[in-house]
Amino acid sequence: MKPSDIRALQGALLAWYDAEARDLPWRVRPGERAAGHANDPYRVWLSEVMLQQTTVPHATPYFLSFTRRWPTASALAAEADAEVMSAWAGLGYYARARNLLACARAVAEDHGGVFPDTEAALLALPGLGPYTAAAVAAIAFDRSAVVVDGNVERVVSRLYAVDAPLPDAKPELRLLAGEIASETRPGDWAQATMDLGATICRPKAPLCDRCPVRRFCAATVGGAPETYPRKRAKADRPRRFGVIYLATRKGAVARVRRPDKGLLGGMLALPTSAWRATRFDLAEAVAEAPVHADWRSAGEVEHVFTHFALSLTVLRAEVAGDIAGAEWTRAEAAGEGLPTVFLKALRAGLSNLL
Ligand code: ADE
Repeated sequence: MKPSDIRALQGALLAWYDAEARDLPWRVRPGERAAGHANDPYRVWLSEVMLQQTTVPHATPYFLSFTRRWPTASALAAEADAEVMSAWAGLGYYARARNLLACARAVAEDHGGVFPDTEAALLALPGLGPYTAAAVAAIAFDRSAVVVDGNVERVVSRLYAVDAPLPDAKPELRLLAGEIASETRPGDWAQATMDLGATICRPKAPLCDRCPVRRFCAATVGGAPETYPRKRAKADRPRRFGVIYLATRKGAVARVRRPDKGLLGGMLALPTSAWRATRFDLAEAVAEAPVHADWRSAGEVEHVFTHFALSLTVLRAEVAGDIAGAEWTRAEAAGEGLPTVFLKALRAGLSNLL
């Protein structure tokens, strides 16, 4: 794009953002900033970590509850791991909750509870990756940084009609994102491109009629902007199989804490078998059970993780004795702090108890 077009594009998108910026609980909109409200780097950081994981509507209640319980990085840093892991339950990808805590503790211990204000210093924090460093530098501190998430990749791939498929196109898209980024309002620019991607330049049905930068968009000229970004054909996710054991004892449910390492590490869970490549028949599933009991089939649960899909057989039994490492929790409260995959199993197996 010519420098004059880039300037016009920046002006058009930032004017749209000035008027249309979404009201999000972690965001200080341009009008609010003009009225003297400042960004809180802790809130920006927390929101960006959550939003890498999920959508704005899903993340919002988590953001509100985290900031109510832990209003500062130091407050979060002082909390016990298990409390934070439980509060994160339902957001998925639990390694991120561990990184969140590692980062909050480094900010509390090494930086007096105050986030450093450059991209490089942010990147040096444990558990804080390149995307978050760029996003916090730009949004919280208005530093020039190229912030590229899935929304921005989509917007840029359409503006330039980039025909190389993802993920190979990532370096090119980052370069182009840097070419158009505003140097004068880096934080607003990052948020404007993300808002445009989320609300107008949507993946399947872009609302080009309402797009403030349509006249700069090469993909609309071709008539099929929704076909960008191009994607390389994906190999199918591998599938794994396993068993979830829903053990009840007088209206209570056995819950265990998973080992720190591995899938759902450190999270509260229901007892499971190990995962394997083939389905368990009932006899095999019973043979792996954590305790001898009259195990009955109570349904199937499907759950898709980033790197594989998991098909789980749910077995249910009323047990008399104990299960090593288990705590017994009233059935009505057994869902609290549990990752989604186990909530599905509870719903499948406990419909008559809840
Ligand atoms: N998605 C991720 N971060 C965002 C932000 N700061 N604003 C809007 N959407 C986002």
